[in-house]
Amino acid sequence: MKILSIETSCDETAVALVEVSGPLSAPEIRVLGSTVHSQLEHKEFGGVYPNLAKREHAKNLVPVLVQNLEQAGMKTEGYEPSREILETIELLLSREEGLFAHLSKAVAHIHKPDVDHIAVTYGPGLEPALWVGISFAKALSLLWDIPVVPTNHMEGHIASVLTTCPVTMPSLALLVSGGHTELVMASAWGSYELLGQTRDDAVGEAFDKVARMLALPYPGGPQVSRLAALGRERRRAGSPALYTLPRPMKKSADFDFSFSGLKTAVLYTIQGKTLTTEEVQDLCCEFEDAVVDVLLYKTQKAIDTYSPKTLVVGGGVVANTRLRQVFTQEIPIPLCIPEQSLSTDNAVMIALAAYIHVQTGRVPAELRAVGNLSLQK
Ligand code: KG4
Ligand code: ZN
Repeated sequence: MKILSIETSCDETAVALVEVSGPLSAPEIRVLGSTVHSQLEHKEFGGVYPNLAKREHAKNLVPVLVQNLEQAGMKTEGYEPSREILETIELLLSREEGLFAHLSKAVAHIHKPDVDHIAVTYGPGLEPALWVGISFAKALSLLWDIPVVPTNHMEGHIASVLTTCPVTMPSLALLVSGGHTELVMASAWGSYELLGQTRDDAVGEAFDKVARMLALPYPGGPQVSRLAALGRERRRAGSPALYTLPRPMKKSADFDFSFSGLKTAVLYTIQGKTLTTEEVQDLCCEFEDAVVDVLLYKTQKAIDTYSPKTLVVGGGVVANTRLRQVFTQEIPIPLCIPEQSLSTDNAVMIALAAYIHVQTGRVPAELRAVGNLSLQK
């Protein structure tokens, strides 16, 4: 089955074309094309602005689609949709500034691609951003007469490991991204129970906020991590730790997390001071260690309690080298981590989530943006 997928839940405009077949326990996956456009426009604000994200998606979706179809060898000339279809599509895209103009110009160069489904993220995420992708998917569906499969972004992060790892059910999933920090127990694909989640900031959000305090550019995760590695090297070489930060909720009886206090502890540590390069690096190391320590502890506790057969770790923060190293060393059951390029938001994972939807026969009743969409039914 070939799936064309669209992801616009946050600040990445992504399109992919993926061929998937076989059972979910051992799917055969061929990525024919994957294009991700990261909106660097948010950098100067140090965070993601929903309306800016929406405008940028409307501007970038058509070029990203065309680039992706070219990459997959599916671009051909000379397709002329009827005036009636174009008018309906114009109406459908009327809220997405410029998107109809881009699409109607490009459409003469895009022949109907040979795909079975169009997958699109309908939540969770920023609703104005989600709507652009949804309207675009509906327009393409109308244009080409291909059905749409609405997909859950977080199920996409779980599914992102399928290109490298067979997932044996029941499986535990730790999801760590800019908007979420969740421990989820999957009894089967499509059946999820939320064991715990963050009570305030998500892990990625905490990384981004700490980066901002240290005047590092957005997104802050990779920047904090790069400095942390230098601080860690110095500690390993025998330099004493300059800072100690708390491990919030590590020993709480539940599976919840809290990262807001940790972020505030960093703020109090640096307030009114000018840190030396060494101090910044050591503080980043201590912050990263605190985060990974708490995530590992709670995950191990969930493994002991629920005895899953595999652990999946997904979401943008799984790009973090320290987290990957520590989990690879410490987790006592098979560990599934996505390849680096599929850790942060992309559309390949959305195509894989759509395959799971199709295979498990779940089709959401209505296609609309659901900002707080949960994995649990
Ligand atoms: O999954 P994702 O791409 O978008 C959301 O769905 O939120 O995750 C983005 C988050 C950002 O907060 C970013 O700072 C964080 O993932 N991130 C990292 C690293 N790479 C990305 N955090 C820590 N270390 C990294 N190497
Ligand atoms: Zn994500």
